Amino acid sequence: MNNKIIIINGPNLNLLGEREQSQYGSITFKELEEICTKKSNELGLKVELAQSNVEGELVNIIQESRKKFDGIIINAAAFTHTSVAIRDALDIFRKPIIELHISNIYKREEFRQKSLISDIVTGGIFGLGVDGYILAIISMQKLLKNEN
Ligand code: DQA
Repeated sequence: MNNKIIIINGPNLNLLGEREQSQYGSITFKELEEICTKKSNELGLKVELAQSNVEGELVNIIQESRKKFDGIIINAAAFTHTSVAIRDALDIFRKPIIELHISNIYKREEFRQKSLISDIVTGGIFGLGVDGYILAIISMQKLLKNEN
């Protein structure tokens, strides 16, 4: 049976293509969705993308993912640096999680250089632009294949 994954995106990522192109490139969220769906399907994964600007909604999405998905790829955006609630929800997931950032958060302002989730996820990708999503999908497929 096909593995199912969810790609969860935090605040302001709906405005990709419009916000700080020097950090995040020119691709829109809709284009990113199309690219991620195509790559996942090529690799035999079912994928759902989610985006919210609201912390509690992201917590709900992560909680609901426990029953529906085999892996999570998450760009928690600004909540990466602030949200204990998102960290706690991810910690309960207990299946592969990949943390993703489009920009290199360790090369930016000091407040971005701390991730509250890095030490509880399986692995992470940062600073490789939106290609990071493709790399994360490839890695997730391998992680899930090895588990099956
Ligand atoms: C981000 C980095 C965060 O610091 C920022 O708040 C974002 C996007 C990234 O993908 O590089 O919104 O997670």
